[in-house]
Amino acid sequence: MTAMQFETFSAKETETMGYHLGKIFQAGQVVALIGELAAGKTTLVKGICQGLDVRQPVDSPTFTLVNEYHGRLPVYHIDCYREQRLTEWLELGINEYFYGDGVTIVEWAERIETLLPPDTIWIYIKHDIDFENHRVFEIVAPKEIYQKFSAKFSLSNSVK
Ligand SMILES: Nc1ncnc2c1ncn2[C@@H]1O[C@H](COP(=O)(O)OP(=O)(O)OP(=O)(O)O)[C@@H](O)[C@H]1O
Ligand SMILES: [Mg+2]
Repeated sequence: MTAMQFETFSAKETETMGYHLGKIFQAGQVVALIGELAAGKTTLVKGICQGLDVRQPVDSPTFTLVNEYHGRLPVYHIDCYREQRLTEWLELGINEYFYGDGVTIVEWAERIETLLPPDTIWIYIKHDIDFENHRVFEIVAPKEIYQKFSAKFSLSNSVK
């Protein structure tokens, strides 16, 4: 696993970053998003879904706990904000998402950390209240993902 940092200065730029990630994801990829309220997790998911050719509207799952979209691959969008009991997630069949044929993206993933597969990509989003639209993303991912991603996403967004 390699850790890399990128920064964005608008929601649009975060979507673009997600788009380039979505482009390189393959079946079985799990992505864990960590960040406070309004950090930009769902915004990033929107971009990832664009990169996966999802045409449906993307929004945080509320009552359903899991949203399913159809793009180049099935996409499962999970939000652990309201439900953090591991037993509930297991009963819901979360392992079928993780070990299935789609891409699974989890908001508030730290709440179910022990359930996540070992090759999960972790994305930590940091938000400094003094700079309203600035976000720093730390991405912890396998080296191949890093190489493909950094070849596509503007180096000007790289945090030196
Ligand atoms: N650089 C940026 N990247 C992402 N979002 C940004 C950025 N700058 C400003 N924003 C704004 O911050 C908000 C992020 O909201 P979003 O729903 O993506 O957060 P979230 O982390 O999913 O929150 P929640 O924990 O409530 O699910 C949006 O209103 C977005 O327009
Ligand atoms: Mg959200």
